[in-house]
Amino acid sequence: MHTRTTGSRIEGFYKLQRNQRLTTLAQNAGLEDHDVTELLNPTPLAFEVADHMIENAIGVLGLPLGVGLNFLINGRERLVPMAVEEPSVVAAASSAARLIREAGGFFAEADAPLMIGQIQLVGVTALDAASEDLHAAAPRLLAAANAVHPNMLRRGAGARKIEVRPLPDTACGPMLIVHLIVDVGDAMGANAVNSMTEIVSPMIEEITGGEARLRILSNLADQRLARATARIPFHLLKTERFDGPEVAQRMMEAWAFAAADPYRATTHNKGVMNGIDAVALATGQDWRGIEAGAHAYAARHGRYAPLSEWRVDKGVLLGSIELPLAVGTVGGNLECNPRVNFGLRMLGVRAARDLAAVMAAVGLAQNFAAMRALVTDGIQRGHMALHARGLAVAAGAPDSMAEQVVEGLLACGEIKLSKAREIVASIRAAA
Ligand code: MEV
Repeated sequence: MHTRTTGSRIEGFYKLQRNQRLTTLAQNAGLEDHDVTELLNPTPLAFEVADHMIENAIGVLGLPLGVGLNFLINGRERLVPMAVEEPSVVAAASSAARLIREAGGFFAEADAPLMIGQIQLVGVTALDAASEDLHAAAPRLLAAANAVHPNMLRRGAGARKIEVRPLPDTACGPMLIVHLIVDVGDAMGANAVNSMTEIVSPMIEEITGGEARLRILSNLADQRLARATARIPFHLLKTERFDGPEVAQRMMEAWAFAAADPYRATTHNKGVMNGIDAVALATGQDWRGIEAGAHAYAARHGRYAPLSEWRVDKGVLLGSIELPLAVGTVGGNLECNPRVNFGLRMLGVRAARDLAAVMAAVGLAQNFAAMRALVTDGIQRGHMALHARGLAVAAGAPDSMAEQVVEGLLACGEIKLSKAREIVASIRAAA
């Protein structure tokens, strides 16, 4: 089959056989033969490796790995690895990215990779005086933290700043919380930050007269935010039933609903995280940390709110998103998992900031796709088409017949395996 491809825009990719998809990807993403061989390996992760990663390992878990197509981010083509079980996620992200690339694509960026390590102090008698003493001792504390990670320092990263958060009125009396702000470079940073907080806490106890309790990073990585924006002229929003300005108006109403109602904001953000988590999984990130940080950030003003914003201005729909994204492109976990390694290479990211920026753009694309479907056809139409495709395959339809079976299922409205089997049997009988 002939395919027209430029960068991440690959026409009819989903219709190709698996080996044709891999060849096309190899050409477009500059992958090597061993990447393709690796993907064809039926074991995604050797059990021996899994056995060293966690306790009580009994196997490895499979999950579909797909490619988000059509992404143009900061003028650069990106093929986005996505691991997810929900049928519509990859298709929706790719179709949103296709529309948005016609409007110039996404613009995305991420802050320097600053993580927060927290040290909890109890028994500090004068919180204000202790805070002042800590600020005065900051250079000494930072030097001690950096002394345990000379490699970080050599790479231009390391402990940067001391911040103090007095909590005068907790359920267990006053506490002083010290934040150690660490530039973690291209790592997610949990290990470095946790070990630094442990190293400096005896000094902090001495300075404040308090006793250190918890010493651990915060997943509310709000000094490590990523952002993405898209500007979509109304004419690109047109559907069969609605003209562009009407779709834009409906999108605004959908966003206003999420901004006013945490019940809706939660589902709105779930849609955002459909994309972000899929990339997080495919690139080996700590997705629980990302989830925790995203939802805490969404509630930062005292009420849970949407992570994205949509508004209209002079014939253009403007979308933006901002959230903490503590992600890494280096670290043992990433290096020992060949598929994760492949995902990072296909995406072409080296720096953690670049990965975070791409993930923010994917979250915005996913949110756009969900909202556009919800305000026009409703979400079920697209879902049902994909579900029908799955049923056609389950009913034994070969590739050459699948499309016909899907059409038959959608036309009769009975999206069931028994109906798919009936249609397959009748096509075979007619042939
Ligand atoms: C489903 O996985 C995600 C959506 O519910 C998101 C949304 O409602 O915005 C469609």
